[in-house]
Amino acid sequence: MGEGNIQDIRKDYGIEELSKASVLDNPIDQFELWFKDAMKSEGCEVNACVLSTLDENQCPEGRVVLLKFYAEDGFTFYTNYQSKKAVQLARHPMASMTFYWRSRERQVRVKGRIEKVPAEISDVYFKERPEGSQIGAWASPQSQEIPDRAFLQERVAETKQRFAHEELTRPEFWGGYILQPIEVEFWQGRPSRLHDRIVYTREGEVWETKRLAP
Ligand SMILES: Cc1cc2nc3c(=O)[nH]c(=O)nc-3n(C[C@H](O)[C@H](O)[C@H](O)COP(=O)(O)O)c2cc1C
Repeated sequence: MGEGNIQDIRKDYGIEELSKASVLDNPIDQFELWFKDAMKSEGCEVNACVLSTLDENQCPEGRVVLLKFYAEDGFTFYTNYQSKKAVQLARHPMASMTFYWRSRERQVRVKGRIEKVPAEISDVYFKERPEGSQIGAWASPQSQEIPDRAFLQERVAETKQRFAHEELTRPEFWGGYILQPIEVEFWQGRPSRLHDRIVYTREGEVWETKRLAP
């Protein structure tokens, strides 16, 4: 145990405010505004978020993934299509992404339906990745039990040999998912735990906003 008590760790927020009047009409535009702010002040991994899915017992499970693209139609990340999360998404194609930008005292939650991105888009993104990451995607049977680290190193060596004389293409078991938002919540820390929360929900093509109690 470290020095001091966990109970005594607390922080008062209050660098910014958020209101229904101040947010943009579209949550993707609002996300972009906050994402750009976070890029300026957050340092690294501003695109890291917790992706939550449901397992076969309806138990939620979260893990960090990196957002690679966002636009009106959704939020994209890349992963192994045979991983635990992929099995969970095949069974229950709904998920949420939670971003926390400490430097701005902000949280964003995005929730919605999830689909695989078209193979051609995954191909393009795969080509852009550093070679080590491309090899890693081939070598790692993500979420499977493996005996030791040497197993991975052997798979890396095999992959390098296999592609020594041909183009390193995307494995079919690796690609992107896009989360199509049906609800997006923006949270801004405020003093004395009276934080600002604005949630967008979709009514057909129109986004509506509500203020929620903190
Ligand atoms: C900062 C950070 C970024 C990560 N980015 C990804 C990612 O983009 N895609 C991915 O599949 N796993 C990523 N991971 C690993 C996942 O958190 C997780 O361990 C892995 O995807 C297996 O999850 P699963 O067994 O639930 O499928 C990242 C982990 C961290 C800490």
